[in-house]
Amino acid sequence: MHSVFLETFGCQMNELDSELVRGQLSTLGYRFVNDPAEARVVLFNTCSVREQAEQKAYSRIGIVGKRKAAGETIVLGVIGCMAERDGVDLLRRHPQVDLMCGPAELDRLPQLIDNALRTQSAEDAMVLSREERTALAGNRSRRSSTLAAAEDNLETLDLSRAFDEESIGGLRRSAQVRITRGCNKFCTYCVVPATRGAEIHRPPDHIVEECRRLAEAGALEVTLLGQTVNHYRYEHGLAVTVDGRQAAQVGPGLTAFRSAPPASSRVTTFAQLLRRIHDEVPQILRLRFVTSYPRDFGDDVLAVMRDCPRVCKYLHIPAQSGSDRILKLMNRGYSRGEYVDFVQRALALVPDVCIAGDIIVGFPTETDDDFEQTCSLVRELPFKNNFIFKYSPRPGTVAIDRFADDVPDAVKRLRNNTLLAIQSETSRRVHAAWIGRTVDVFFSDVRAPRISHNQSKDETTHTSAGTHASLMELPQFSAAGSVRVDPVRTEPNQPDDSGSTCWQAVGRTSGDLICSAFASDESAAKKLVGTLKKMQIISSGPLLLRLSAVSEES
Ligand code: 5AD
Ligand code: SF4
Repeated sequence: MHSVFLETFGCQMNELDSELVRGQLSTLGYRFVNDPAEARVVLFNTCSVREQAEQKAYSRIGIVGKRKAAGETIVLGVIGCMAERDGVDLLRRHPQVDLMCGPAELDRLPQLIDNALRTQSAEDAMVLSREERTALAGNRSRRSSTLAAAEDNLETLDLSRAFDEESIGGLRRSAQVRITRGCNKFCTYCVVPATRGAEIHRPPDHIVEECRRLAEAGALEVTLLGQTVNHYRYEHGLAVTVDGRQAAQVGPGLTAFRSAPPASSRVTTFAQLLRRIHDEVPQILRLRFVTSYPRDFGDDVLAVMRDCPRVCKYLHIPAQSGSDRILKLMNRGYSRGEYVDFVQRALALVPDVCIAGDIIVGFPTETDDDFEQTCSLVRELPFKNNFIFKYSPRPGTVAIDRFADDVPDAVKRLRNNTLLAIQSETSRRVHAAWIGRTVDVFFSDVRAPRISHNQSKDETTHTSAGTHASLMELPQFSAAGSVRVDPVRTEPNQPDDSGSTCWQAVGRTSGDLICSAFASDESAAKKLVGTLKKMQIISSGPLLLRLSAVSEES
């Protein structure tokens, strides 16, 4: 059967899409390979959130395009957000692309690949025209609600997931489960509502069942995914059924969150969903969720985080800016004061909760004063980390039409670096407060030794030779047949200034604080991967917490 190479760019949602595509194509007999040179079908699952991610994908597409132009027979497919956003333009730039498939069309991918293979094997006898190929790049993403409910073939894609080694990340024993697709927020800078379409909520029974099956396959950690998870709300009895099953449901308007949570059992709220998974699938030792939206986050969810020991005390809740004027231009729907109030409420109600977020610098018209307000927010609140992005205008967004990209790149870069330095200080402070405590660490990676030029810079108290890992440096166990590139949320926020001469096991606390333990050797480090251990924190820096060392016996 045909061999497939699949490379993924961008966010966790894309990683999950790739996993589903892999499952779907494997079932049909396709074989996944790690080397694009060995593949009959090369697929790029692309991201449009920022320009940088697109440029990377363009360069990969260009390389395969050249091989095709030189006579190699390859089906070259672009899936994900670029296919949706950039369809016609992409084909103009890279006529060697055989198929495109947006994120809301992925259930049709096998058919598109099959068509492309047949076309090629007929010696290009009937090459599809540019228009025909573009038509396949999706028109379902902002579907009418009736259609979305009745024809939710994407739900079928999620339901057809394979529960195997790959779905739990191999030894990492960590899986992702989608709870909502799309987004209804229309932040002015963001392409997601245009590429992923309207917010659709999956039926709670499907979600719980998927978690249960992942746990049976060996998952100890599950991350629930959605663009704004706290808006999850499923109204029972409303849904059209597909093949006798519940159907996914278009999200309600924001007014649904202004009243008290419903007492009626006809609705499943996000808090109820979390508690259900926690209670019904106790084999899951770590239940996380990303991303939260800073508005409409009820105390009911905070209470579940406080009361359910296996729900992680972690909130990824992007502020995006500390300036009310910029937040308005971004159409975020909350003020700085409301954001601060929410974080204070979370800190008060959920002991040890850790807060992280995203920030955009250099949004159009951002003045020094606006930027200073973002800096003061990062000084004021105990962010464990923030992913900081320079604004890039994205075609298909409101901002690109409405505002000139008037902050010069040099200023964006300066603001980016200034904010990174402030965040680094804040992270150092947050981390230092954990020294001496015993925490549960779920280990997910090992880090091989490197020759050190510059040791121990990062440590608050020095314990042994060593340094920090940067997020970028953490090795990823890549699932067979796929390569993970440039996760949107793992920019090198801080420079990695040195290496270590020891093997390390790397993991995370419930609050997602990155921890590292020096190991006596490779096997001692690897043994920890996919396990949850009580460990003591002995020192810290801006990037990670250092744990007591481990040996083969420990
Ligand atoms: N420019 C820069 N950053 C962006 N993000 C989304 N769109 C843009 C853009 N046009 C960032 C936001 C979001 C994260 C996933 O990416 O901070 O939370
Ligand atoms: Fe984009 Fe805003 Fe939706 Fe997040 S909430 S996906 S930033 S539109």
